[in-house]
Amino acid sequence: MQGGPGQWSPNLTVVDIRPDILSAIGDTPLVRLARVHPPGNLVAKVESMNPGGSIKERIGLGMIERAERMGLLHPGDTIVEPTSGNTGVGLAMVAALRGYRLIAVMADKQSKEKQDLLRAYGAEVVVCPTAVAPDDPRSYYSVAAELASRPGHFRPDQYSNPANPDAHYRTTGPEIWRQTDGQIGVLVAGVGTGGTITGVARFLKEQNPDVRIVGVDPRGSIFTATGPADVTAYLTEGVGEDFWPDTFDRALVDEYEVVTDGEAFAMTRRVTREEGILVGGSGGMAIEGALRVARRMPAELVVVVVPDGGRNYLSKIFDDAWMRDHGFGEGT
Ligand SMILES: Cc1ncc(COP(=O)(O)O)c(C=O)c1O
Repeated sequence: MQGGPGQWSPNLTVVDIRPDILSAIGDTPLVRLARVHPPGNLVAKVESMNPGGSIKERIGLGMIERAERMGLLHPGDTIVEPTSGNTGVGLAMVAALRGYRLIAVMADKQSKEKQDLLRAYGAEVVVCPTAVAPDDPRSYYSVAAELASRPGHFRPDQYSNPANPDAHYRTTGPEIWRQTDGQIGVLVAGVGTGGTITGVARFLKEQNPDVRIVGVDPRGSIFTATGPADVTAYLTEGVGEDFWPDTFDRALVDEYEVVTDGEAFAMTRRVTREEGILVGGSGGMAIEGALRVARRMPAELVVVVVPDGGRNYLSKIFDDAWMRDHGFGEGT
């Protein structure tokens, strides 16, 4: 086709063409996991089918639009965010389309694929050590705070930004309600910033206060720790924390399932092979927790959120040598 942008002006109410990739975010499918759980009451919200591959694109757009409305972000400014990768992709997509620079600050436990992916979208990546306290100046939280304090730099901060849970209240929650025709009995999700579980739970409980909300937590995370000694290192990425984020309304969670790295990774591989859905480690973790719930509550429709896909973890969870080196066997 000849001509530059704007020279071809079809009637956009007739053709099926999105104005840009951001408008392809959301409306992901609910898929029954009938091979892993034959009774059929376990279904997955497959968020890896978002255009950038994860649930976090929903919040990237929401946080940037809020900042623009509040006058916190101006054309040409730099967005700085500490991110395990997926939020970075969501922000990178918005930054590319709206003319912002993005610096993603990551911990070194995150996979190399995640770093490479962000660079591919045009982001700058700063890698920081995982094995330091959050208030250590070398931690990824501290490095991001210093960068964000510079003029012309804005930090969305997915751990405190109300646009994070709000994106799920406006999109993910209503989608699940509509797709299940209001028949959802239990919502199961992992908790990182808590944005997903908070926004979705708030919406679902407004529709039906009896919808049960189950958080799934990696062993070692603070959300299910009984004391400081329980807060230890673990390898499942994107979920669990060593502090309580402002974006997480813990009062909405009715109960938790605790899942070990080994259990999460075995389920990640099993779901991928048996259902043909390439899920990430936090999705495998959430499905392991949801399977326990679905077995316990056979009369309830259990919806589990799968935040991202397995391509981010080919050199880890899906790599037999990596699994063996970390003492997990090779999964199933
Ligand atoms: C892979 C992955 N799974 C799960 C989550 C948790 O979602 P939320 O932050 O909404 O609690 C994240 C968050 O960063 C993530 O990156």
